[in-house]
Amino acid sequence: MEPRIIPASDNAISRAARLLRDGALVAFPTETVYGLGGDATSDRAVARIFAAKDRPRFNPLIVHVPGLAEAEPLGEFDERARIAARHFWPGPLTLVLPRRTSGGLSLLASAGLDTVGLRAPRHPVAQSLLRATGKPIASPSANRSGRVSPTTAAHVAAELGKSVALILDAGPCPVGLESTVLDLTGRLPVLLRPGAVTLEQLAELLGNIETLQTASEAPRAPGSLPSHYAPDLPLRFDALEARPGEALLAFGAEAPPGFAEVLWLSRAGDLAEAAANLFALLRQADRPEFTGIAVMPIPERGLGRAINDRLRRAAAPR
Ligand code: TXA
Ligand code: MG
Repeated sequence: MEPRIIPASDNAISRAARLLRDGALVAFPTETVYGLGGDATSDRAVARIFAAKDRPRFNPLIVHVPGLAEAEPLGEFDERARIAARHFWPGPLTLVLPRRTSGGLSLLASAGLDTVGLRAPRHPVAQSLLRATGKPIASPSANRSGRVSPTTAAHVAAELGKSVALILDAGPCPVGLESTVLDLTGRLPVLLRPGAVTLEQLAELLGNIETLQTASEAPRAPGSLPSHYAPDLPLRFDALEARPGEALLAFGAEAPPGFAEVLWLSRAGDLAEAAANLFALLRQADRPEFTGIAVMPIPERGLGRAINDRLRRAAAPR
């Protein structure tokens, strides 16, 4: 069965919802990246997701719901969690909370942890699909494990091919970087993955936030393994001078000379624009005619933190 890319009309969304209720996998757009969705209450559907992604079993999946009302039965919300959800949902924030056993979630989705990652995406297609399906949807990014996340329907088809029944197409994802993952199971909130909701925004709402650098425990988000999100070519960041044959991801008005190709993350030096372009341009630069991918310095603030996090992982030795 060839994957079918279908514009996300009301009809297509109804069809996708039926497929999901029947245990099939559907790829759909969110404001961050495209997700590979399956019924989060079905072990079989969740197992299919792991198989399609070729993902190590220990990596838990984010469970997607339309909003706080649908999330409450699945996780234990304390006051902090409610405040965060009310402020940032629907939107690009995943909350890791103690899992409620009465919620009926597949244990496989949490990869054996007694916690659950919950997120209410704000993309209108994701919202309609979740409401039409009427079930929590487990959904990792719709790429094979260890590859960069897809921000267009064509990326999804290239990554997952036949294992997905339907790909709902709503054009490029507006944010382009995965959601922020915030662990609220301990006394202090811990930022497990920087993302579209910034550390600064979270700290303003919740006060002191630990990051994985400051937290004493081993990484709790396996997606923060160093070599996640890897292109095939070597990647070099903070690049200010060309090396022979490299492609450059440029940021700001001027690119240094001598690169084999220059692709602009943002000419205006705009971090949101750079985030939205990052994964598509990484794919575009990841071609055998280049010797490597160089990236100009990106400021370590706001969304720049999430961009640099993904770049550091893409540059990590494998
Ligand atoms: O923006 C996004 O979050 C996208 C879209 C599709 O919603 N999804 C996504 O899922 O990026 P995925 O599976 O590629 O990344 C999920 C991250 C992983 O780093 C995973 O380890 C972490 O969230 N995570 C999920 N549940 C968790 C849990 N219970 N405890 C700790 N980390 C968890
Ligand atoms: Mg992913």
